[in-house]
Amino acid sequence: MPSIDYGTDSMAWVRALSHASDAELYALIQTPMYDAMLFRHADAVRRIYYGTDVYIRGLIEFTNYCRNDCYYCGIRRSNGMVHRYRLTKAEILTCCKDGYALGFRTFVLQGGEDMAYTDKTLCEIVSTIREHFPNCAITLSLGERTRESYRLLYRAGANRYLLRHETADDAHYRRLHPKEMSLAHRKSCLFQLKEIGYQVGAGFLVGSPFQTAKELVSDLRFLQQLQPDMIGIGPFIPHSNTPFWDYSGGSLILTLRMLAILRLMFPYVLLPATTALGTIHPQGRELGLKVGANVVMPNLSPTGVRRKYELYDNKICTGEESAQCRSCLEQRVEAAGYHVVTDVGDMRRRKLTK
Ligand code: 5AD
Ligand code: FES
Repeated sequence: MPSIDYGTDSMAWVRALSHASDAELYALIQTPMYDAMLFRHADAVRRIYYGTDVYIRGLIEFTNYCRNDCYYCGIRRSNGMVHRYRLTKAEILTCCKDGYALGFRTFVLQGGEDMAYTDKTLCEIVSTIREHFPNCAITLSLGERTRESYRLLYRAGANRYLLRHETADDAHYRRLHPKEMSLAHRKSCLFQLKEIGYQVGAGFLVGSPFQTAKELVSDLRFLQQLQPDMIGIGPFIPHSNTPFWDYSGGSLILTLRMLAILRLMFPYVLLPATTALGTIHPQGRELGLKVGANVVMPNLSPTGVRRKYELYDNKICTGEESAQCRSCLEQRVEAAGYHVVTDVGDMRRRKLTK
């Protein structure tokens, strides 16, 4: 295994990691030896590109119906224990209004793959939000749809799309998903979204069943190919009512290590400290921010439905009101030494000039 020494200059780490060999990536991923250096340089690089800014995105979980059956996910269609719900356009709009008043300038509409929301319904929802909030970003996270559907939604006013690839290794993908799902299709959706003009977010689970360093290196290689604006990662957390209920979850340290590597490989990227990270450790999100993450996504969903959007066991933030969640996160961000900003928060292509 190569021994890594990229020197003391953080930008030298960025240059080295953009050309890192697989052997170097394995070394960084598989040993705790480099953690201190990775974490320090990742934080330095986020400060070079983003200062201490942390962007907030208001997450609206508008449906927990899903046609898919991913083995890790709590809202998979075979889970008969889930109380299914759908929010109406009016309810979604109320979430946005509450969010706007709380300073949110990005709304993330996330849901299972719920075909009850046709292109027409979704476009009406998106264009109404667009009319009411012309200065906000509308992010969609609705899974795999047709190119035409993505195009119509973009035209209706959506400008960002989150679609995690989950794992970029084909054989691994097949062990996490039923056979009707394919990695090739997932990837083609991501490239289509990019081509249409969306700012695109991909991402993967850390510590999912059967994952080794090999799969994580594939994830990094795929991201280098895609060049996304956003990368969402979080630890796998078992859900008691899924086939993976008795697998162990992803670890805090590996998630932090991957966040730091991502910040160094993609210095400009928007990188959330996710709810899953906050779920496996009381200070998970703060620790994420300290190793390169620069986005947090408080929940704006109506309190009555939050517990029903249970992707994994013990998910946090399910009891709080939107305002509570917003101020809780603001305090956490400040305590970690960063600052919440309320602008739209697009990706920065250049370093900050002093
Ligand atoms: N543990 C952690 N994350 C999960 N997700 C789904 N199920 C789980 C789980 N059991 C993540 C997936 C999905 C995102 C919305 O939530 O990566 O893309
Ligand atoms: Fe939701 Fe703390 S972030 S309650």
